[in-house]
Parts: sequence; C-alpha cells; structure tokens
Amino acid sequence: MLQAKTIILGVGGGPLTSAAIEVLRALQRAGAGVRVVLSAETEAFVPALTFRSLAAGDVLMPDDLYGRMGAQDFHSLRGLVRNADGLVVVPATPALIAKAAASWADEALVRAMLLHNGPTVFACAVRAAEYQHPLVQQNVQRLRDAGVTLCDAGVPETDDSADELGWRMASATVVEAVAASLRQTTVLSGKTVIVTAGPTQEPIDPVRHISNASSGKTGFAIAEAARQRGAEVVLITGPTHLQTPVGVTCVPVRTAVQMRDAVREHFAAADVVIKSAAVSDFRPATVIADKVKKEDATLSIALERNPDILAELGALKGRRVLVGFAAETRDLLANAKQKVSKKDLDLIVANDVSDPAMGFASDHNRVHLIDAAGRIEPLPVMSKRALAEAILDRVQAVLTQRQGDGA
Ligand code: PMT
Repeated sequence: MLQAKTIILGVGGGPLTSAAIEVLRALQRAGAGVRVVLSAETEAFVPALTFRSLAAGDVLMPDDLYGRMGAQDFHSLRGLVRNADGLVVVPATPALIAKAAASWADEALVRAMLLHNGPTVFACAVRAAEYQHPLVQQNVQRLRDAGVTLCDAGVPETDDSADELGWRMASATVVEAVAASLRQTTVLSGKTVIVTAGPTQEPIDPVRHISNASSGKTGFAIAEAARQRGAEVVLITGPTHLQTPVGVTCVPVRTAVQMRDAVREHFAAADVVIKSAAVSDFRPATVIADKVKKEDATLSIALERNPDILAELGALKGRRVLVGFAAETRDLLANAKQKVSKKDLDLIVANDVSDPAMGFASDHNRVHLIDAAGRIEPLPVMSKRALAEAILDRVQAVLTQRQGDGA
C-alpha cells in the first residue's frame, strides 16, 4: 500500500505515545520507509532508543532542530523532510494541534510539518474529552482548513473513557488515513473492483482436499494497487497466508462454489472484476463425512465439474471491465485468445506455468497481455506488484475509453 513511499512520523508526547510504535511498524509493513521526529514531550513517555532501533537510526531528536548540516545532512531537519511523501503525527496532542494551528515552530516536529507542506495526517482520539474544548476545536478547524487530515483513530478502552488515558489507537486506521492522503486520483477512484485470489480447496473428507499451488500473491498485489489508486476493493480469496491490504474488504472462501457465490453477491456493485484466482475446475462428487481410513479407501474419486465463474460473469458483464487469467503449460497464446472471445473478456493475463520459477507462488511472473481485439503484448519478467500496476493501467485505459464512448 505504501511501497516506495517515505513517511515522516512525528511522535507526540501523551498517554497514547506508545501507539506510535505500532504505527511505525504498520507503516513499515505497508512498505513505507519511515523517518521519525520526536516532539519535546515524547521521551517523557517512550525512550528515543525504541524509535531509533525500529527506524534504523533515522530519528530526529527535538534538540536537533538546527542540527548538523552538510555531510551530516541526513540527520538534519531538511534532510529528513526532503522527498518525503507524507507526514503523520501520532498522537496529535492538543498541545501539538495548537502549535501547528498557530505555526508556532519552536520544535523540530512543527518545523518539519511546515517544511514538508504536503499530505499531512494528525491522528488522535478525537472524541476524548480534552479534544471537545472549543479552543481545541477551533485549532482543529484551522488545521482542516489548511488541508490537514484529522484522523479519529481512537478506540475507547473503557465505558468511562473521559480522557486519553481511556483510549487506544487503531494503527490500521492511521495507516489507511496516510495512504488515503497520498492516494492518486485516477479513473479508478470511487469505482468498485472485485479481485479474486488464491487457490480453491475442494474437500474430499474432513482432512483432505483437492487444491493447487496458488499463493494469492498476484491477487493481493492487484487488490492493494487498486486500493492505492482510489478504488473500493473487494478481495475474494481462497485460503492463503497473506495479510489483507489495509483498506481492502476481504471475503475469505474455500471452494469454487463459495467463490462463485461471493463474486455474484458483489457483482451488481462492481465496475471491474479481475479474476486471478486459480479455481479448481473439478470437485469430488461427494464429500465423505468422516476421515477415510486407508483400509476403506478406494483408489479413485469421482469428480464433477465446478461452475466456470469467469464464463458466467462474461455473460452478465454489461458495462463492467472483465479481466481473466490463463495459466497454461502449452499453446499459451492460442488458448488464452480463445478464452478472451469465449468469455467476453476485456483483457486476459496469459502465463506459461510450465516454468516452476514463474507464476504459481513465485514473487515474479512473465506474462502476455491480450486485449479484446486480440492484440498481444509480451511483458518482461517483473514483480507481481509491477504486474498489478501494468494490469490496472490497461483496465484504466478501457474505463476511460468506455466513459468517452458513453458506452
Ligand atoms: O497466486 P499466485 O501464487 O500469485 O499465482 C498466480 C496465478 C498463477 C494463480 C495467476 O497468475 C493465474 O494464472 N491465475 C489463473 C489460474 C487459472 O485458474 O487459470 P485457468 O486457465 O484454469 O482459468 C482461466 C480463468 O478462469 C482464470 O481467470 C480463473 O480465475 C477463471 N476460472 C477458472 C475455473 C473456474 N471454474 N472458474 C473460473 O472463473
């Protein structure tokens, strides 16, 4: 979600300071490089060493305000702010809100904010008592007027959460607010995108199933990239070990039939459907209730066909953009081309899965894209995230053209 982004994390001093540690980790997990700037009060609550160790030393202390320049520029305020994509303050205490609203830059954190002058998020427990005072509200309004996002990431811990002591901070909410503040406005903004991912599992008995080696990496990368482009994303996924990207709605399923039902449930609201899941074409005709003992087992399992979800969607697609995948071990392009016309696809991502280093479960893939007119575009070996961006570029082009045509 925040790959290749640089975020300045300003850490306020108050009862919620320890939440900044979790936010720092969550930002890093989301792919961001994080530079930390401590406020004058931070160390009363959490030692600087904690942030130094987590941010690989990339931490500015309050007394470094007019700190070392030149060769030591890395540690200076200007070096810290340079090329940063966003800034988030956690927790944004009433004192920091007041200073920022008055551009009272007597400490490094406020000065960093003024120098940064880009996407900025203040995260706090907005509903805690001290934020309700009219003076704090006035300062909050001044920040909002200046384009700062006030993120209410506070979750009450107790029934009588009178002040900040009774609140905790939801780090996922903060990361999503940071990502939203950076989000590009694209033709996908506000559109609903369904992505299917991972394998399906077709049970044989309570402990055995038919499945495949899909890891879900491709679908999860597409979901994350689409979210970052402003889409509402529903990720319908078979069993994987991956973490749902922040801001994405995840619908876990197991079997092809469950995946079909989930896709159909969300299809009416969808503008784009991207089917990267490796769906099992067959399932055991009967699921055996008890674990089969090897003494009782026959050596064959009767199979029946699963629904072809993509073909069903093709028949219903209307104005939606429909992207399929093709995993083939031979006659890749001919088979993929056939799927484009047979299933009324706008794009197919054709991958030759005979190379064990590519496709299933790898971090990279090499594919051909084939559009509705049958045009073939070979892509080089690339990361699944880069592939996700390439697919979404083509999806956006189709959406733009369709909007232009009024079709
Ligand atoms: O998850 P990863 O480890 O990152 O691996 C990615 C991948 C290799 C799984 C992915 O790149 C891929 O190729 N996905 C499609 C795999 C597949 O099932 O291909 P297929 O040629 O059998 O199916 C064609 C299309 O029909 C696919 O879009 C599939 O989602 C869809 N399908 C297939 C069968 C079925 N019953 N219903 C379907 O909708």
